[in-house]
Amino acid sequence: MPDSAPAGDGTIRLERRNAAQQTPAAARPGRGNQMFAVLSDVHANLEALRAVIHDTTRRGIQRMFFLGDIIGYGPNPREVLDFLKNFEFCLMGNHDRATLTGPPKTFNPIARRATSWTRSKIHLSGLRFQLLRPGERKRRRQYWDFLMNLKTCRKVGEMFFAHDNPLNPGDDNYVRRVGDAHAAFARHPDVRAFFIGHSHVPRIFYPGKKEKPELVEVESGHFVACHNVKSLMLQ
Ligand SMILES: [Fe+2]
Repeated sequence: MPDSAPAGDGTIRLERRNAAQQTPAAARPGRGNQMFAVLSDVHANLEALRAVIHDTTRRGIQRMFFLGDIIGYGPNPREVLDFLKNFEFCLMGNHDRATLTGPPKTFNPIARRATSWTRSKIHLSGLRFQLLRPGERKRRRQYWDFLMNLKTCRKVGEMFFAHDNPLNPGDDNYVRRVGDAHAAFARHPDVRAFFIGHSHVPRIFYPGKKEKPELVEVESGHFVACHNVKSLMLQ
């Protein structure tokens, strides 16, 4: 992706930088670290999660938030749950909810099978559960309670976090068009930065010329610099 600087009320600049350049001096350990990491949609992929944690640790980042879809698809739901329960907060994703309630009709066959398999690893009901050892029953109860207590959104200062969309968190709708982002900006005028997951597509919505939101597609390995931008939505 070429470096670009779309002009609007503010400026968003995308650059490819090396790892050292991506960590501002003020954010390094011992310098009043204010950086935080926002992760989402790991879907029980333990190797991917470990790689990201390794990277955030190397950068001295201590605050970590997770935006939902902890499980579903991947082979390590229990290990990933063990990992993420130590994050500052985790939100409920649609696959997390599906594991608790059973796969919804909107899921495709692969998602349905993955949900059923994941559910079999942590569910609490049925004869099989009664036959499990007490330690295993206790462990499953902890996973179940953790998932049951996840919230659909969270506000931290001027930042708003949700899995799917800020307009109605938990309804499973996607933010796909600039109009969706514009509606969220209007609904939450006190929020400067929205962070969402769900789509598995990295991109940024921001108010461009004449307050019309604009969209920047982002690829991994890019550093995003934002200047004088009133509000942002990072997906
Ligand atoms: Fe997801």
